[in-house]
Amino acid sequence: MSTQNAIQSAAANHVAAEPRRVTVFDTTLRDGEQTAGVCFSTDDKIEIALALAEMGVDVIEAGFPINSPGECRAVAEVAAHVRGASVCALARAVPKDVAAAGEALRHAEAPRIHVFVNSSDMQMAHQLRKTREQVVEMAAAMVRSAREFTDDVEFSPMDATRADRAFIAELARAAAGAGAGTINLPDTVGYATPEQVARLVEFVRVVLAQHAPEAVVSFHGQDDLGLATANAIAAIAAGAEQVELAVNGIGERAGNTAFEEVVAALSVHGERLGVVCGVDPRGIGRVSDLVERRSGIPVAPNKAVVGRNAFRHASGIHQDGVLKERETYEVLDPGAVGHQVGTQIVLGKLSGRTGFEQRVRALGYRLSEAPLEKAFRRFQEVAAHTPEVSDADLHVICQGIGSQRRAVPGFAIDL
Ligand code: KIV
Repeated sequence: MSTQNAIQSAAANHVAAEPRRVTVFDTTLRDGEQTAGVCFSTDDKIEIALALAEMGVDVIEAGFPINSPGECRAVAEVAAHVRGASVCALARAVPKDVAAAGEALRHAEAPRIHVFVNSSDMQMAHQLRKTREQVVEMAAAMVRSAREFTDDVEFSPMDATRADRAFIAELARAAAGAGAGTINLPDTVGYATPEQVARLVEFVRVVLAQHAPEAVVSFHGQDDLGLATANAIAAIAAGAEQVELAVNGIGERAGNTAFEEVVAALSVHGERLGVVCGVDPRGIGRVSDLVERRSGIPVAPNKAVVGRNAFRHASGIHQDGVLKERETYEVLDPGAVGHQVGTQIVLGKLSGRTGFEQRVRALGYRLSEAPLEKAFRRFQEVAAHTPEVSDADLHVICQGIGSQRRAVPGFAIDL
């Protein structure tokens, strides 16, 4: 076969191949709750968990039962209410944690226990004060013990991205050998770059392919360097079959990988990457709003996908483009991610004539060339001192030049 033919045939095979299903593991209720100042009540947890399950999230990490009797009860309540998604509880690799997780998940339809232990030399030496041999033993023993409660056990070597590769391989083999079906690779302190994450995922996949080919490789990222979403996508591109996410990116310090960003990115790039996930992106707006209200952590206006400004256009050039064809300046359809506000033209000092004219028409004014020019100049004077020129301002401007409204306007410009 010629090189050309070989390339064409490889491309055809690639297109024909079934997309790989990526498991979406949501940790809003566990790692997300580790945001300073957040405390979800049991009812909050149930409401958020049900919203996530309804959207098609595969695994919901509901909490860390050993933390307190209240947390244990909250996880148990989530486990009892959620159907159609796995409910997961976190446990350190110590017997009392695993027992508490098992107990809390007693009524789950599909229970998962998530066992973790420090794996970087720094954390093992300074925090855990255990040797590598002891850590491997703890991991294997606690995965075995978790398997007494459920067939679905996940193991995380904490701080994996800063740990020694050979040791991660040893831990992954030991945990998978003891019965862990998912080996999750946490970038616990948000240290890694996409390229490093991809290499680690590939490495662990090769290790597991020899020892436990059924095991799923997962990635869990923190956002300390603002790379969490890029890292999660790099992990998926490198073959990770699960990603761990939190709605609105809430979580310890700078937060976790943002659920909405990864789900939206997969909706845009999934086909090219050859992957799909089971989450319906149209539920994103609702769940983001719910988590914002229940957590008390406001979503930044410029937050990707869910921020108030995510689909608002302020510059004249962008407004002109969007008014002609939305996709000129938007990679996502706001309706497809359930955005609460959607595409909006914001009139201010950077706006051009197109946005202005469109808006005054929508407000019911029909201005001919000369009055329009006059009104636009007045608008620019106002905009020079006002961050956002409101509809009320526009009425004053138009009526100030003697124009009358001819129709009752709709609230937003029709795009
Ligand atoms: O950040 C982390 O390492 C974790 C693990 C328990 C997965 O939250």
